[in-house]
Amino acid sequence: MRISVLTVLPGLFDCFLKEGIIGKAVQSEKVKVNVINIRDYAYDKHKVVDDVPYGGGPGMVLKPEPIFRAYDDISKKFGKPFVILTEPWGETFNQEMAVELSKKEHLLIICGRYEGVDERVKTIVDKEVSIGDYVLTGGELPAMVMMDAIIRLIPEVLGNKESLKADSFMDRGLLGYPNYTRPAEYRGLKVPEVLLSGHHKKIEEWRKRESLKRTLKKKPQVIENLLKEGKLTEEEKRLLEEIKKAETPPD
Ligand SMILES: C[S@@+](CC[C@H](N)C(=O)[O-])C[C@H]1O[C@@H](n2cnc3c(N)ncnc32)[C@H](O)[C@@H]1O
Repeated sequence: MRISVLTVLPGLFDCFLKEGIIGKAVQSEKVKVNVINIRDYAYDKHKVVDDVPYGGGPGMVLKPEPIFRAYDDISKKFGKPFVILTEPWGETFNQEMAVELSKKEHLLIICGRYEGVDERVKTIVDKEVSIGDYVLTGGELPAMVMMDAIIRLIPEVLGNKESLKADSFMDRGLLGYPNYTRPAEYRGLKVPEVLLSGHHKKIEEWRKRESLKRTLKKKPQVIENLLKEGKLTEEEKRLLEEIKKAETPPD
């Protein structure tokens, strides 16, 4: 997979692309990333990429020409990309979208700045994406958020494939189960007995129950929908009944 990024602040991506799991994925070329400075495609010698908005008003707007020229060049070099534009009002990014985008061969993320991009840029955009209902100074953090979630889904980027399966939202929207590590007791806080038992079947059932319990508490709508759509197994329905019974105060 290739991810191209168009930004006026390419330096912001330096650490992100060097460190941790993402750094390893880039080094081993499981993902090819090219961060491109929009200024490199400006016409004039001062490399101007923004201008005042027509009709007046505050702030500056990212000019269309450098973005179109960069898009043409990237398409010629690496093939036509699926284009994402970061926008506060875009479709809200989530795990389902990350999975869908991780299957694309070539993504291009255009990072807005200032008051945003000239509206005509939208003619080359496939999806406007937001990372939440708040306004940031630019699209670089949203781009990194999306890239992080997408890159870790690329086959073999994570050392252990199982960790993806256990992730929240990966299995029908269910949330992950609680995790513990050594020591078995700390400040009087004990690790649940079952996890120390070595009994794999019981551990699996405990994790399933805890995942359902957490989802029921934090995202009850997810459980309601799964029940309505008949997407829970008989075992899961039984566990859910047990959870609900345990939480109902006696008469
Ligand atoms: C200061 S914002 C522009 C705000 C815009 N004028 C408005 O009406 O909301 C600059 C750029 O940051 C990016 N941005 C800001 N908040 C974002 C968010 N929540 N999700 C995705 N991108 C965001 C967008 O690319 C945006 O064009």
